[in-house]
Amino acid sequence: MPQVRDIAMDVGTSHVLIYMRGRGLILREPAVVAVDRDTNRIRAVGSDAYRLLGRTPANVQAVRPLRQGLINDFELTRQMLLELVGHALNGRSFFNRPRCVMSVPTGVSETEQRSLISVMFDAGMRRTQLLSRPVAAALGVGMEIDKSYGAMVVDMGAGASDIAVLSGNEVVVGSCVPVGGDYFDDAIIRYLRKKHNLLIGERTAEEIKISIGSAMNPTGHVAMDVTGRNLISGLPKTVNISASEIYEALKDPVADLIDAIQGVIERTAPQLASDIFEDGIVLTGGAASLNGLPEAIYQVLEIPVGVADNPDSCVVLGCARALEDTPEMRDLLGDGRKHWFR
Ligand SMILES: Nc1ncnc2c1ncn2[C@@H]1O[C@H](COP(=O)(O)OP(=O)(O)OP(=O)(O)O)[C@@H](O)[C@H]1O
Ligand SMILES: [Mg+2]
Repeated sequence: MPQVRDIAMDVGTSHVLIYMRGRGLILREPAVVAVDRDTNRIRAVGSDAYRLLGRTPANVQAVRPLRQGLINDFELTRQMLLELVGHALNGRSFFNRPRCVMSVPTGVSETEQRSLISVMFDAGMRRTQLLSRPVAAALGVGMEIDKSYGAMVVDMGAGASDIAVLSGNEVVVGSCVPVGGDYFDDAIIRYLRKKHNLLIGERTAEEIKISIGSAMNPTGHVAMDVTGRNLISGLPKTVNISASEIYEALKDPVADLIDAIQGVIERTAPQLASDIFEDGIVLTGGAASLNGLPEAIYQVLEIPVGVADNPDSCVVLGCARALEDTPEMRDLLGDGRKHWFR
């Protein structure tokens, strides 16, 4: 029986989102944990820990327990999930434990998947079922994926991009590549170090990407002041950086993404590929918001590309749809394994 308090969850490498039946999206927190290295105790989780990223006192370290689509530190991931789910349930204990449909990074191993399910049991869930990222993303967009028709979705998060061709509720061809928002940030860091001898942190790189980053050569002159550390003098320095420079920095990483998408299309059966040429590619995930990305993909592949509305919530909303107790969704979740990439 479906319960009012059942939850859907997207455990991302940069954000954790929780949706509760009857209440909607109730939590969106950075996937960051601040640890006291002297005592190994958790000092803060989520946005409180994110504020400490890159500027922590010596003994406190703010870390992201998931990176590049993988679990880096299982114990910290466990503690983060217990804390965030506890926060979402808000101390309520349920007569009937709620059920959970959850999506985790595609690189998480089967052993880790089982361990995460038991973490969710400890967090108060009765039963936790896993849904693969691209299936969840497509459901969240409202795509019809149960037909024997080809549909393509690219879910671009911070750590990775899941590129998938879906048909008959399954991933028929898929690939998960470590090309996401972090990869773009790293390219900006490298570029500024090389071109301006300027050392910046990952938060600054992300701010630059969101403010003036683009996958297409910018037309007008847009620029911003960036403060970092001069690598030669070792002193703080502010440099005016233009959008065209950031475009230069992002050109290769964007090309890597397009190559990966092309690789998946090349492995797709002709009939399904022609469905995709007709209907286009849907981009989801936070990194899909990079300016000019649909145009850049279209320029190379000549396939229509669109970004979903609220791209960073698609996966959690897809898991929420899968919570509905219909025969279709029961079939979709199955034993939770057949939708994983082979
Ligand atoms: N407007 C924007 N332009 C470019 N990038 C953006 C924008 N907004 C968010 N991002 C990027 O999106 C990424 C976060 O996306 P999201 O929250 O979907 O990731 P995630 O689901 O936690 O990660 P993953 O799916 O890889 O596990 C970050 O790298 C962030 O910099
Ligand atoms: Mg994601």
